[in-house]
Amino acid sequence: MNNNLSLQIIQKIKNVLGDLSQPIPLHEPYFLGNEKKYLENCINSRYVSYIGEYVKKFEENLCEHTHAKAALAVVSGTAALHLALKLIGIEPQDEVLLPSLTFVATANAVSYCGAIPHLVEVDEDTLGVDPEKLDHYLSTIIDQHSSQCINKVTGRKIKALIVVHVFGHPVDLDPLLALCQKYGIELIEDSAQALGSEYKNRPVGNVGRIACLSFNGNKIITTGGGGTLLFQDIELANKAKHLSTTARVAGNQFFNHDQIGFNYRMPNINAAIGCAQLERLDIKLKQKRKLANSYIQEFTNIDEVKIFQEPNYAKSNYWLNTLILNNPSLENVKNLLNELNNNNILARPAWSLMHHLPMYKNSPRMDLAVSQKLFNSIINLPSTAELMERI
Ligand SMILES: Cc1ncc(COP(=O)(O)O)c(C=O)c1O
Repeated sequence: MNNNLSLQIIQKIKNVLGDLSQPIPLHEPYFLGNEKKYLENCINSRYVSYIGEYVKKFEENLCEHTHAKAALAVVSGTAALHLALKLIGIEPQDEVLLPSLTFVATANAVSYCGAIPHLVEVDEDTLGVDPEKLDHYLSTIIDQHSSQCINKVTGRKIKALIVVHVFGHPVDLDPLLALCQKYGIELIEDSAQALGSEYKNRPVGNVGRIACLSFNGNKIITTGGGGTLLFQDIELANKAKHLSTTARVAGNQFFNHDQIGFNYRMPNINAAIGCAQLERLDIKLKQKRKLANSYIQEFTNIDEVKIFQEPNYAKSNYWLNTLILNNPSLENVKNLLNELNNNNILARPAWSLMHHLPMYKNSPRMDLAVSQKLFNSIINLPSTAELMERI
């Protein structure tokens, strides 16, 4: 990349962010509402673990925001994904389809079940799983004579597809849901980054059988660490609650557990922060849209790069703003990242593709040329909602 272009890009980012005398992180948590008050209430009540009013309130409020019928708050987004896979019956040696372009937690959750991540391609216009390519691929590897979805290459069952709303942008869910119905596999939404995003005017997180959110410190709202499973099926939600509470059988003082459960419930102290953060979600969404629009406008007249924009069926939360190099080049990504970081703009690349990681390099996979192209063109820019307050 020539020096002039780097300077031009830095200037444009500066026009959006203003003062660059201090490093501007990619995404920072802010605590501007009732966090301290609720934390104090929580400590005073001495209900600091998973029993407490804030856990219930946080779950109820999340249902209001996402239109889910039930929510279960857990200790992380990764735990939410692990539990979701257990709940839909993923067993050792099953295959679970997921995009190579995702954070490693999506694949790890599959491995925790002893199952095999099967890596699939994404669409350049959505950054999410490409339904047409996946349909074509599955039609070539599926044993058409079996009533189950059997991968005839490996002999294993393909039981589920995890879709990821990458950087908060909703994937095109309808064709993916139709594909899952066609092949008899479950759809799980990894909505870790997408709280507040909408798909065809509906909040994301209620199309798949289960959707998983993350509230890690870098997400649009945080509980310190945490995650949530969203359900439309109350019976499944009850099973999830049981499984995440060490499968303890309620009823008397004795410690009876009817299966190997997990200690995955979110502590009240984290949920207290979450309740306060959720009260400001709508403000944050407006600020994020404003920030995204500023980036988009600044970069309209520059041929070599563009800012990724939400797909036309979606309203994105713009969790991260993404600069795309129109001529993909890892060298250029590296050079530009260095330049930006040297100028206090703490930009970051996309996650390493799953098939480039040592533990997933032999995972079954389809052609991943688009994922590779995206990895060679993505630079994520500082995206904290509250950046708009200083501008
Ligand atoms: C796509 C995706 N899935 C899952 C997770 C895991 O969430 P957590 O960090 O809360 O375990 C993340 C977190 O960054 C994520 O980005």
